Amino acid sequence: MSLSKTQSAYERASKVLPFGVTSNFRFWGEGKTPIAARGEGAYLYDLDGNRYIDYRLAFGPVILGHAYEAVNRRVSEAIGDGTLFAMTHMWEIRAAERIQRMCPGVDRVRFANSGTEATMHAIRLARTYTGREKVLKFEGHYHGMHDYLLFSTAGIKVEAAGPPDAPVPAPQTPGIPRVISDLVLTAPWNDFEYLEKVVTRHGEELAAIIFEPIMGNAASIGPLPGWLEHIRALCDRYGIVMIMDEVKTGFRVAPGGAQELFGVQADLVTYAKALGNGFPIAALGGKQEIMDHIGPGRMLQGGTYTGNAVGTAAADAVLELLEDGEVLRSINARGERLSGGLSEILTRHGIAHHINGPGSMFGLVLTEGDPPRNIREWLQTDQALYTRIAMELIKRGAMPDPDGREPWFLCYALSDQDVDDTLTAFEEAVKAATG
Ligand SMILES: Cc1ncc(COP(=O)(O)O)c(C=O)c1O
Repeated sequence: MSLSKTQSAYERASKVLPFGVTSNFRFWGEGKTPIAARGEGAYLYDLDGNRYIDYRLAFGPVILGHAYEAVNRRVSEAIGDGTLFAMTHMWEIRAAERIQRMCPGVDRVRFANSGTEATMHAIRLARTYTGREKVLKFEGHYHGMHDYLLFSTAGIKVEAAGPPDAPVPAPQTPGIPRVISDLVLTAPWNDFEYLEKVVTRHGEELAAIIFEPIMGNAASIGPLPGWLEHIRALCDRYGIVMIMDEVKTGFRVAPGGAQELFGVQADLVTYAKALGNGFPIAALGGKQEIMDHIGPGRMLQGGTYTGNAVGTAAADAVLELLEDGEVLRSINARGERLSGGLSEILTRHGIAHHINGPGSMFGLVLTEGDPPRNIREWLQTDQALYTRIAMELIKRGAMPDPDGREPWFLCYALSDQDVDDTLTAFEEAVKAATG
């Protein structure tokens, strides 16, 4: 596999972009950072023309496939009439109506441009609605780049995050004012007792509990039975706004997202990623009683580009295809076949492992122990072996993220043949990584 064009383009990139990238998460190391040329369906091509079956899908958004014709056509139709008006337009209304129809308990919707913006507005709305300031988040959960929640995410430094039975919010980056950490409480995911204890103590100060229903930034670790119901009950008991961050799960695990999959309804929900199949679009939605606090003379929400015709036309096309559930059922079924096949190969090679999450975004964890229930337990798993296998697989033309925290994402364009080819390459990759 030649990488000469990629390497010289990377040198050029690093002279103008810090580390040659526009997101720290895209830096794989000097001489190892890939440069994309194009995507088509389930495939990604690098600058040297190498083809990969893409299981990163841009960290999840590409639910149908790269350059998906029906979505591109709808966007082209929209942009012929202009993209931005500082006025409500019909694409926006159509996309919002579809979200309202598909997502349980979403009475009203406002659009944003990224998941970061959507969770930032959700937090402000919860504070407006409750008149309280503190927010509880879970260790290992990621909600975007704004300062309010960038603590103890999947890149958690355990030394800075306190003991597991008395966690403290550890900032993930320099530059966050120290006072903001006074407004954040952290808790381990799936720990019923600790959550009950912390909410009993701080419930009256908490505006919101925010969480990823499936840990889309930590190997798709799911909720234990009864866990989401436990969060719901505590929110109800103390008048706390329950915010389900469906930026990764929304329009991927089921047409109505994790709310539909698990049958638990939040007060506010955030969406992005699969909503646009790669076009930039996000949304915040929820109960009318809460959403009605947004408005003139009330809480501010908006932005020059919010609800632009490009993103909302893309969402209109994507949701039209996802609404009846057939597309997602097919993606999930293919994902189950792929993860089952990976599991069989690992078992044959004597590598202890667990598969987490639904087929459309499953996590693969290598460990002799029990399945991890939270990020601290995931940190005990064999990350190095996972990365070695993933890198060998990439050399053989199938590309999951080399970081085992990132799930394997599947798109509708992926064929049964692609799954078979991935399994063949995976067997070779396991041999190379362990031989
Ligand atoms: C669960 C979750 N919330 C929020 C975000 C932030 O979204 P964005 O990168 O669009 O700002 C992400 C991004 O990966 C995410 O996974």
